[in-house]
This record gives sequence, C-alpha cells and structure tokens, in this order.
Amino acid sequence: MGNILVTGGAGFIGSHLVKELLNLGENVIVVDNLSMGSKENLDLNNKNLTFIEGDISNQSTITELFNTYTFKKIFHLGAVASVAASVEHPLETHLTNLEGTIYLLEAARKQKDIERFVFASSAAVYGDDPALPKRENSPIKPLTPYAIDKYASERYVINYSKLYGLPTVALRFFNVYGIGQNPSSPYSGVVSIITDRLKKKLNGEDASFILFGDGSQTRDFVFVKDVVQANLLVSNNKDAIGNVYNVGTGEKISLMDLISTYIKISGIDLPIKKEAVRSGDIKDSYADVSALKSIGFMPEFTVEEGLKVYWEHQI
Ligand code: UD1
Repeated sequence: MGNILVTGGAGFIGSHLVKELLNLGENVIVVDNLSMGSKENLDLNNKNLTFIEGDISNQSTITELFNTYTFKKIFHLGAVASVAASVEHPLETHLTNLEGTIYLLEAARKQKDIERFVFASSAAVYGDDPALPKRENSPIKPLTPYAIDKYASERYVINYSKLYGLPTVALRFFNVYGIGQNPSSPYSGVVSIITDRLKKKLNGEDASFILFGDGSQTRDFVFVKDVVQANLLVSNNKDAIGNVYNVGTGEKISLMDLISTYIKISGIDLPIKKEAVRSGDIKDSYADVSALKSIGFMPEFTVEEGLKVYWEHQI
C-alpha cells in the first residue's frame, strides 16, 4: 500500500495528522527528534506505525530512511517550531528548518514516484505587513530566522515541482490551537497558555493570565483538526500541486473576545493582568482562505466550537 512519512510526527500538529492517517488505515513512518514532540503523543502499539527517533538536520538519517523505506506521500512538519528559539539560535534553526527541508526534497526527488510532498510553512512569512486579510500573493516580509527559513523552504518546495516534477504543496498555517499543544514556554501559543491557567484555577491553584496589550489584537485561530483536514486535502487533490495555501478559518477574533469566550465555556473566573505589548508582536492577522476553499476546504470548527472540544478534553 505504500508508506507515508510524517516528519515532526510526535509534535503537536504532526501527531494529530498521524492519528488521522492511522484511522484511515495508512502505514505511517514518523521521524522526530523529540526536541518539542513526545512519544506519548503517539499510539506506539499500532502495528501500522513506525517511530524513528532521528534528526532531519542530519543528512545521513534521511539517506538511511529512504534506503530503508519507500514513500508514497511525505508530510514535512519537522522544524524548530519556536520563533523565539530561532532568534536565540539562528544557525541551529537554519540547519533543521532549511537544510533539513532540502535533504528531504533531494531524497524525495531521487525516489522518483512520490505522489505528494506537503510542507508546513507559516503565516510568519507575512511578517508585520499591515494589509489584511493576508493573501497568498500579499507582500512577504519574514522578520525572524524562523520566518526566513520557512519562506526559503517554501520556495524550494514549490520550485521542486517546476524543476523536477516532484508534486509539492506548501501550507501557511495561521494560529493553530488544540489538544496537546505545549504551554510550557512564554512563547507557546496563547490558547495553550490560557488553557493551562484555566486548568490550574480548576485545580484550586492560584493562577492568572498575563495579557500583553489591551486585548484588541486580532488573530485567525484555527483548530488543529481543521489543519489536519487541510493537509489531507492537498495531499489528495491534484489541483493543489505546485501551490501555496493559507490555512486558517478566514475569520479574525480579538484576543479579548477569545478570552471571554473561553472563560464562558470553562465557567472559570480567570484573573487577567495587563502588561505592555510584547516586543515584536504584530497587531492584526487573519487569512484569506478562498484559495484552499476553492479546492474543497471547509473549516469545521469556529473558535467557540474548537475551544469547547479543547476544554472538554481537559476536564
Ligand atoms: C507568533 C509566535 C511568536 C512570534 C510572533 C511574531 C507562536 C506560538 N508565536 O505569535 O513567537 O514572536 O508570531 O509575530 O508561534 N499573548 C498574551 N499572553 C501570553 C501569550 C501571548 O497576551 O501569555 C498574546 C500575544 O502578545 C499576542 C497573542 O496573544 O498578541 C497571540 O500570541 P501567540 O499565540 O504567541 O501568537 P502570535 O502573536 O501570532
């Protein structure tokens, strides 16, 4: 039947994708260095799943992988996923986030019969350009090593389709949230941080949420299950080949509205402490998702619905 490779498959988004692929009866090979991900995110008892602890910045790991297995599809999500870490360690980030991508593309090109190579890019490529909504052809202004490498990877990925006929697609994820997102760093996704504080409060601990700014900043928060749907869609739809797509809901919500909605859902009175706007933050961001919708994308979760599912999983 052929294998599916998921790099970063033990991470937050990758593990949701792996679960869905296994539900569909696929044979899945996960490569993950466990720097951000965890084996606990994976059903290691599933006979259709093979877990390989390995680093994509190591070319011999990729070569050995492709010498051992052949793949029909590749979902490349493995990356240094923290923007803050990329600013601290630009070179290490680059070796994983750009060189790792090229190692994979080269191996995929040599295998010749890959049906699809899907790359996880980021809305970070748009930087702080104020034009909204962000369209795939909006100005690109990557501001951090993370964003620069994501954009460079995207160009490699898309041009491998034109240069070598490798059927590639790149997805620009907006603010993804959902079960399993790690709240441990101050730079973790804000929804995971709020969830963590609500849980602490639920358990009788003294907890509050620090809001940077006045809460009027807006984002396009997309539930991880919709991101999985987008990945599967572009891996099956031939019209997606060679294209870049935004992945969001197409709706913006202010952080304050998100917090109020979440407090209402949880029924927990979380104290909010306001601090100055976080340096480097953008004010507003949301996606135009009409391109992805034109090939069949239908986000299933409003923010309220996604938060409900997320919260019910915590209690
Ligand atoms: C994303 C990156 C961030 C990067 C920024 C650049 C992630 C998880 N975050 O941030 O590292 O610097 O792009 O534009 O990839 N917030 C709070 N309190 C908190 C945490 C966050 O008020 O404890 C606010 C932030 O200031 C921001 C909003 O929540 O206004 C969303 O934050 P976040 O989830 O980090 O997403 P981005 O701002 O898009």
